[in-house]
Amino acid sequence: MSIFWNVWIIFPTLLVIVGCFLLLRACSKDNTGVKEGESMGHSFDGIEELNNSLPKWWTYMFYISIVFGLIYLALYPGLGSYKGLFGWTSSNQSIGYEEGIKADSKAAVELAKAENRLSQYDREVAAADEKFGPIFAAYLATPLEDLVKDEEALKVGGRLFLQNCAQCHGSDARGSIGFPNLTDNNWLYGGELATIKTSIMNGRNGMMPPKGGLPIEDSEIQGLAEYVFKLSGRDHDATLAAQGQASFMKGCFACHGMDGTGNKFMGAPNLTDDAWLYGSSRLQVMQSIANGRSGVMPAWDDILGEEKVHVISAYVYSLSNK
Ligand code: HEC
Ligand code: HEC
Repeated sequence: MSIFWNVWIIFPTLLVIVGCFLLLRACSKDNTGVKEGESMGHSFDGIEELNNSLPKWWTYMFYISIVFGLIYLALYPGLGSYKGLFGWTSSNQSIGYEEGIKADSKAAVELAKAENRLSQYDREVAAADEKFGPIFAAYLATPLEDLVKDEEALKVGGRLFLQNCAQCHGSDARGSIGFPNLTDNNWLYGGELATIKTSIMNGRNGMMPPKGGLPIEDSEIQGLAEYVFKLSGRDHDATLAAQGQASFMKGCFACHGMDGTGNKFMGAPNLTDDAWLYGSSRLQVMQSIANGRSGVMPAWDDILGEEKVHVISAYVYSLSNK
């Protein structure tokens, strides 16, 4: 933090505290010239203002708050780049930041761990790992085929899902536009236990370039959408769909398959079913074709570790395999 920002923070902070103290002192002194308990000579709608001093308990509470504030500022970080007597930090990265290794926050975290300067968060995680580590290790040692029958493990997986996955896939795992429904046995990449686990461990990134990267005119988009509707058995314009089929043969099939049933290897959706990742309206389907789509599913191996991913995989599988 530069000197300017240090001053910018330290000076007003202390000024406010000193200001509160002075204000309190000034208000505690009776310089009205009126006797305690007597009228100040102001009357509002028949309510008279008397000269009463501030309640003692209130004044003392305020003084205590000021002393508390000063002690707090001495012990904890808050005054500019001053680190506080306790050296408390909210994240290990902030330590690295100060030392100029911001570029590699991971290295900063490792360094903090090695030097035993863990943040409160990491200390709590380390304590939790110690407590629950053996339980997760036992889960990891259990084959997924058996884990899906373990009610207790599925509950743990469900909680982990709520904490880490619900923001995208929904708390009921039914997904929303751009985020696949995980409960319907309709898979972009496959619903086998091992495939689900691979999806979660390594993440996924389905890529459809605009117009599939094919020599397709804007005028062909509508026909293609009608053809896709025909593939999924919906109402469609037969003439346009026939034109669309010709356009589809320019190369859409390379990813979505000759029959449009998709390709799980590259996550190209099945276009013949009634599940739509990006919405089912004509407009949404035309947008998918014209602009392309690229959904990103983060890789969880680094974030949660294989043990937790293992348990979540069993939970995700259980959602569509009752
Ligand atoms: C930032 C949003 C986001 C978060 C968080 C997220 N996902 Fe995903 N997930 C996606 C997207 C987007 C896709 C589809 C990727 C694609 O289009 O290729 C996906 C795909 C998947 C798939 C593959 C589905 C299929 O049909 O093959 C699984 C399984 C999955 N996610 C499980 C999880 C689990 C379990 C978690 C929590 C650990 C999680 N996701 C967290 C966005 C997210
Ligand atoms: C390079 C491979 C590739 C080609 C070529 C391609 N697609 Fe796609 N398409 C994908 C992938 C992958 C997705 C899913 C993107 C995602 O997961 O974000 C997709 C998504 C779609 C969707 C959205 C489906 C839904 O469920 O919402 C439609 C519609 C579609 N493609 C139609 C077409 C048409 C028509 C063509 C030919 C013009 C085409 N695609 C060419 C790979 C391809």
